[in-house]
This record gives sequence, C-alpha cells and structure tokens, in this order.
Amino acid sequence: MLNSPIRSVEWNVDSIKLLDQRLLPSKTVFLTLTTIKDVWEAIFVLKVRGAPAIGITAAYGLALWAQQSEIQDYREFRLELEKQAAYLESSRPTAVNLFWAIKRILSSIESVEAVTTAKEVILNEAHLITKEDEDVCRSIGEYAVGLFNDEDTLLTHCNAGGIATARYGTALAPFYIAKERGINLKAYASETRPVLQGARLTAWELEQLGVDVTLITDNMVAHTIKSKGINAVIVGADRIAANGDTANKIGTYGLALIAHALEVPFYVAAPLSTIDLATATGEDIEIEERHADEVRTLNGQAVTTATMKVFNPAFDVTPSELITGIITEKGIITGDFKQKLANLFI
Ligand code: MRU
Repeated sequence: MLNSPIRSVEWNVDSIKLLDQRLLPSKTVFLTLTTIKDVWEAIFVLKVRGAPAIGITAAYGLALWAQQSEIQDYREFRLELEKQAAYLESSRPTAVNLFWAIKRILSSIESVEAVTTAKEVILNEAHLITKEDEDVCRSIGEYAVGLFNDEDTLLTHCNAGGIATARYGTALAPFYIAKERGINLKAYASETRPVLQGARLTAWELEQLGVDVTLITDNMVAHTIKSKGINAVIVGADRIAANGDTANKIGTYGLALIAHALEVPFYVAAPLSTIDLATATGEDIEIEERHADEVRTLNGQAVTTATMKVFNPAFDVTPSELITGIITEKGIITGDFKQKLANLFI
C-alpha cells in the first residue's frame, strides 16, 4: 500500500470511481458514479466519508453534472449549477470541507462566460482540489511526525486516514511519513461505534501500512491510555470553529476529556479547508444526527429491540481548551487558537 495507495475517489474519463468504504475491510469494491444523484447518495450513506474525501467527491459531482449538462446558455447553466451545489450541500451538514469544495468550484467560474469553458474549468478545479489535498496532507504528516519520538504509541479515533482524503490522511499522515523515515510509531485505534470507522478502516489501513496497531472498543480508552503508555492522542476534524473548538467523530470529546485528565497531549490534525472562521464557536456547528438503525444494529444484526428509542449524533465538539495543538499544512498552532487560526489565512 505504501507505494500504490488506494485512492478512495478518482475521476475516470466521464464518471467517478469511488471506493465503497462501507464494505471494508472484508471487500474492496470500487463503484462507478454516473449521476449527481449517485454522488449525493454516496455521501449520505457513507460510501465515501471523511471530511476532505467528501469535499473532493462533491467537487467531482459538480464536474459530472457539468459534463452531462445540455444547457447552452451560460446564465442558465450557472443558475442550474448553483441548484446542484445546494443539492449536494444537503447530503451532510457537519464537515465544512463539503461546503468549502463546492464554493471553490462555483468561484472557479466567476469570470467565465461560456458553457464549454466552464465545463473545462470545473473539472480542472476538481482535479486541483484533489492534488492540493494530497500535498496538504503530506505537509500535515511532516509537521506531525516531528512531535513524536521513535517507538511512541499514539491513540486515534474514527478514520482520518488516506481513504478519508486524497492521500496520507490527516491524523494518520504522521504514520505514513514515519514509515518513509524509518521511525517506528505504534497505534491504538478505538473502534468508533456505531459505524466502526476505527475497526473497519483505521485498523485495516494501518495494518496495510505495516504499523503495529492494536484495536480497542470505545469504552477501553481511559484504561488503555493509563495502562499502555500512550504518548499522545491524535484525531482529525470535520470543522474547526474560529476559536479552535473542533467538531469530529462522536466520542472525540470524551477522548479529549480523558486525555486531559490523564495529562496526555491531545492533537487535532486538519487542513485549512476544515477551518471555518465564519463559525465563531463550537456552539454554532450543526451536528448531524443519523438513523437510529445504525445504533440498533451491528453488522446487520439487531443489538436491541427494533422500536428502541435512540440518540445518534454523528459528531461532537471538543472545546479548544482541551486541545494541545492543531496540526495544519502551515505548521502546528498552540495556545491562542483564535488569533493563530486567523493568522493562517493571512
Ligand atoms: O462520519 P465520518 O466517517 O465522515 O466522520 C469522519 C471523521 O470524523 C474524521 O475524523 C474527519 O472527517 C477527518 S477525515 C481526515
């Protein structure tokens, strides 16, 4: 996997080649998305997940629609593109990368005046978003690896790996860079109920990479940090508010509280495309709630009654006070997140 990583999203002539992340690790299936409806559904049902990968898929989704459009009039084309953009934005509310990538596509044709040019520009912009994400994730990994020593053990939650991005991942990026440099980083992955991104994706991805990875259930985190000499916790993010409050997979907040109580550093690794200065604090982040059956079942098997009342938030918000540092492609920031996050965009 090191030399030829699995790409979770790729443009393929006139369609999108998408890794069905719901089936991993038992099956590696690539889907062909041919309509914008396919793209909306793929994001909604988590065939593709992870903030940057969702953004990339949405960008290609708009390119797909644009290629297929038969509208000749540019103004009409632009209006319809905006409608399709709003449609894709309705697929998942929390990860800001979705909105960021869509905005980039719309902005890319601001000074365009012909439909044929617009179609070309949109596809090129989607390719650029993908290429940039790969470079950005590599840079995050290069900064992050400097925080750790050979033989350190890191605990991570959910999957902020290569398949959640164009390549390398965010929280998992230091593992890729460490491998290249002969540094031995070990990992604990928490399983991440209800959808098991930790067990199905992170543990699998790190095992493929040849990392010494150990899987635990979510309720084993405190005991594991305390008894297994965990040096740091590192997670990804779906949206970072202007003050540093961070939305990430449900369970991240609890993990941060535990890390704080046990005096273990807690790092968030995320690209600038995940930082949302227009959202003042975590209070303003919309938390997606998903279908009750995700909790009522496990691998298709009922774990409770079919009528059981369920609360199923997909994300939570970790207050910035619990975050030791935010690792971005422009470096690591600590302390006054509000000022330092704003400075990243100057
Ligand atoms: O519901 P998911 O699987 O899309 O949630 C993903 C996460 O919470 C990731 O940690 C986050 O998107 C960062 S991926 C680099």
